[in-house]
Amino acid sequence: MGKILVVYYSLVNGNTKRIADLIAERKDADTLRLQTVEPYPDNDKARKKKAREDDEKGILPELEKANYDFDSYDTFYIGTPVWGCSMAAPVRSFLASHDFTGKKVIPFATHSGEPGDVLSDIRKACEGAEFGPGFLIQFDPQEGPIMMTLYAEIFKWIKNSTQEGAREEPVNRMMGGWGRPL
Ligand SMILES: Cc1cc2nc3c(=O)[nH]c(=O)nc-3n(C[C@H](O)[C@H](O)[C@H](O)COP(=O)(O)O)c2cc1C
Repeated sequence: MGKILVVYYSLVNGNTKRIADLIAERKDADTLRLQTVEPYPDNDKARKKKAREDDEKGILPELEKANYDFDSYDTFYIGTPVWGCSMAAPVRSFLASHDFTGKKVIPFATHSGEPGDVLSDIRKACEGAEFGPGFLIQFDPQEGPIMMTLYAEIFKWIKNSTQEGAREEPVNRMMGGWGRPL
């Protein structure tokens, strides 16, 4: 399986960090937390406005320089909070600046009920990669830190995610908030 890097962005509650840390612990993986050079506003309304405007303009925020040897990793878990039914812009920046040809990518995302097409959006942004099964982790609809997805489900996914031929659980992709079909 080779070396594993868990690359993630996490801003508001540390929800995505929580999942990244679980993966790192269980897969003996390294982590890379993405940070933007320019911070997002603290205020929720202002933060959403900026995220939406950046998205509409296709802006890729500049990331803080980090020390990691991309080539030394074979497998990348890519984790993001869902922003506007897709990935957060800093994750888009990271994916756009790396070549994933020949790498294995396993996407995951935390959300508050409307994950949109985030997992396939991550796949589309990692051209040339081979993919493991993605996973959506639902937090509370108020966008707080209460996790709705069961730990047992998360641990099962983490365990199976690196197995050869592992498939995404259809039920996990089909359910929106509170079990609503998407
Ligand atoms: C700018 C912004 C946009 C968001 N858009 C969505 C969305 O489209 N769908 C959704 O389910 N949650 C959305 N959320 C909620 C977050 O995805 C959710 O709370 C996530 O778990 C936060 O992760 P973090 O604590 O790691 O930052 C949004 C949050 C922010 C800040």
